[in-house]
Amino acid sequence: MGADVRLAPLTSGRSYPGRVPFGPRSLPWCVALAACSPGDPRGVANTGVTTSVFDPTWISTAGTDVDDSGGSSAGTSSTGLVETSGTETGSDVGFPWSLPPGYPAPRVPDDNPMSAAKVELGRHLFYDPRLSSTGTYACATCHVQALAFTDGRATAVGETGEVHRRNAMSLANVGYAVSLAWADPQLATLEDQAPIPMYGHDPIELGLGSPADLEANLATEPLYDGLFAAAFPDDPAPLSADNAVRALAAFERTIISGRSDFDAWFYGTGYGDLSDAAARGWELFNAPPANCFRCHDDFNLSDSTAYDGGPDVAPRFHNIGLYNLDGAGAYPASDPGLVEVTGDPADMGKFKTPTLHNVAVTAPYMHDGSVATLGEVLDHYATGGRTITEGPHAGVGSDSPWRSEFVRPFEMSPQDRADMLAFLESLTDPAFLVDPALGDPWAR
Ligand code: HEC
Ligand code: HEC
Repeated sequence: MGADVRLAPLTSGRSYPGRVPFGPRSLPWCVALAACSPGDPRGVANTGVTTSVFDPTWISTAGTDVDDSGGSSAGTSSTGLVETSGTETGSDVGFPWSLPPGYPAPRVPDDNPMSAAKVELGRHLFYDPRLSSTGTYACATCHVQALAFTDGRATAVGETGEVHRRNAMSLANVGYAVSLAWADPQLATLEDQAPIPMYGHDPIELGLGSPADLEANLATEPLYDGLFAAAFPDDPAPLSADNAVRALAAFERTIISGRSDFDAWFYGTGYGDLSDAAARGWELFNAPPANCFRCHDDFNLSDSTAYDGGPDVAPRFHNIGLYNLDGAGAYPASDPGLVEVTGDPADMGKFKTPTLHNVAVTAPYMHDGSVATLGEVLDHYATGGRTITEGPHAGVGSDSPWRSEFVRPFEMSPQDRADMLAFLESLTDPAFLVDPALGDPWAR
């Protein structure tokens, strides 16, 4: 197996617009961050990282991750990471993104350019129960702003009470995701995703029968005539299900979170206050043996992240050893992960790496909501997988042949655990959770 692809961009000096390259300890922190200047109180939090330099021995420590990338039928390269010259220009030129310092703009499809009117329409739709057959359910029922657009349940429940097999995902920074849903390499755009909860019947989420049903429901709200006309001024019949989907996607691209205490410290923007414990937790996160950064990397803390002007990135999926039902690595048949899509046995139990922004408010965790707290998540990783001692899911996850090489047992002192928890908690962006621009427009 060749050199580790995850580190290549760091050594080759990949940089993001307007900020230092993001990566494990490769950062010349004190060159880039005002916080490191002598006398700056935040220098205390930074002392752990001021002398950090890139350590090439980590490449061998980390091993290779080739079998841990997307499935073969997902069209990924053998390394799972495809880089291009990054010529994407996007069609959002001139749109007033409200980007946190250091954050690049999301990619925007050429056929759905951003506009303020479209985002405003999309926000109305996102919160509108007319998007359901019973008139009781909206996207926002399962994606609640105060919970970083999750629902607080282990697995979601649709309008008819049907239980979804999966946990409702956070929509924070969803515009940067290269694949959508927990394990679907083919689902790449928000425009393709939105119809699934609206019209899907396995399970029923919003329960709409057809685009015509949606259009009939929307026609009952007088406000929509003006909103659709403003959002699609060149369209002679603007109120359509297709345009509703476009507007939803445009709104979702503005669901950007990057103003946590951690972000403020990392980008040296001068607000926020990172504790010493959280800074130490970030150090542990970014190094062997914890290896969290191997998958939770880049500004979005997910390896399935791309942005406008940046390189193309193939979706990646990993088995983190949550289950091992049969000693051969089986996950519950109800949700085996990527293998269900690709048919490749090596894709057993692989799921997308979720962003960790606001993770302290998105419990319970994992694709099936089977881990209740962040402390339990850390314990899971420290034992190199989860052991379930009894019941139908009994098994030793750390013995799974499909578990990622980066998930390995490591010693975690009580201090380490507390520090990593403090780091994860420092990723909460309180302004994002109440930002009126992302809130319910009908609630006035
Ligand atoms: C019944 C609850 C429910 C409703 C209603 C719902 N979702 Fe979701 N959403 C989920 C679940 C569960 C997932 C994970 C699906 C999967 O992996 O198969 C998800 C995933 C997503 C994702 C992928 C996020 C990512 O990071 O990959 C997006 C985007 C999304 N939903 C947007 C919407 C939009 C837009 C609507 C309204 C049109 C909506 N959802 C309605 C429960 C819901
Ligand atoms: C091999 C890649 C990989 C490594 C290494 C890794 N993670 Fe993860 N992480 C994932 C994937 C994939 C998931 C989702 C797994 C699932 O649902 O089955 C996840 C889920 C999580 C979640 C739950 C998020 C949510 O919204 O449900 C947290 C928290 C988390 N990881 C933190 C960490 C920490 C802390 C470390 C280091 C100790 C770490 N991860 C190491 C890939 C990884």
